[in-house]
Amino acid sequence: MQTIRRLEELREAISGFRAAGERVAFVPTMGALHAGHIALVEEAKLAADRVVVSIFVNPTQFGPSEDFGKYPRKELADSRLLAGAGVDLLWLPSVEEMYPGGPEIDVRASEIGNVLDGAHRPGHFDGVTTVVARLFGQVRPDVALFGEKDWQQLAVIRRMAADLKLGIAIQGVPTQREDDGLALSSRNAYLLPEDRAKAVALPRALGAAERTIATGGDPAAALAQAIDTLSAAGFDVDYVELRDAATLGSPIEGQPMRLLAAARIGGTRLIDNIAVSYE
Ligand code: PAF
Repeated sequence: MQTIRRLEELREAISGFRAAGERVAFVPTMGALHAGHIALVEEAKLAADRVVVSIFVNPTQFGPSEDFGKYPRKELADSRLLAGAGVDLLWLPSVEEMYPGGPEIDVRASEIGNVLDGAHRPGHFDGVTTVVARLFGQVRPDVALFGEKDWQQLAVIRRMAADLKLGIAIQGVPTQREDDGLALSSRNAYLLPEDRAKAVALPRALGAAERTIATGGDPAAALAQAIDTLSAAGFDVDYVELRDAATLGSPIEGQPMRLLAAARIGGTRLIDNIAVSYE
């Protein structure tokens, strides 16, 4: 695996792939990698000839009171994991290369980035779209892969790629879960053992709400029940919502729907989501 820290060298390596007629798949990450990221790499290997992974803890997607400073950074372990998984190129841009300073052009996520997580983390998705647009400009992949665990992020990036006519296919990869159902996340590392034990209430509450709605139960009652269950388990709930899977607006009859939740346990904010289909 090549490890590259300078844009000039990245461009050269990508040009080499292109000159050999190879397609490039890209997996952007913030590091602290786990089996969920490796699932993205495995799908990326099937989608193209070469796999590029980036690690960049993006300051612009963290709010002032969020965990940018303490976000786990594990470059050596991550690099070994990626090499073992068969990644061709690890791209490690510097903050200076990503954000040279001065008046810069941002990409705004707009309405789809202002609801759900965006309403609780103002500016978060503008930071995501800005950095992902820059990463796309650097790597210029044919296809980019994102985990469905961050469903809103995936929807926002799909929309960005379509609206800006980037010519990059955006592929979602199903959420990887622990045996008890908790979605894998780099932030699970923050959970104390007692909070980790309680955290399983999140996928369970979503699963119960999904069954109620899928079998014709009242969606509003199902969402209220999920909020009650999570509160009783010790969560501080930001939202549990049923939305149109693509636009994240109100559900539209006959269109795919998604149940999404965000809640804090012991100071750690967890998110999760699942598909809902009427039986
Ligand atoms: O999902 C993440 O790890 C980040 O939000 C991403 C897409 C790498 C942008 O910084």
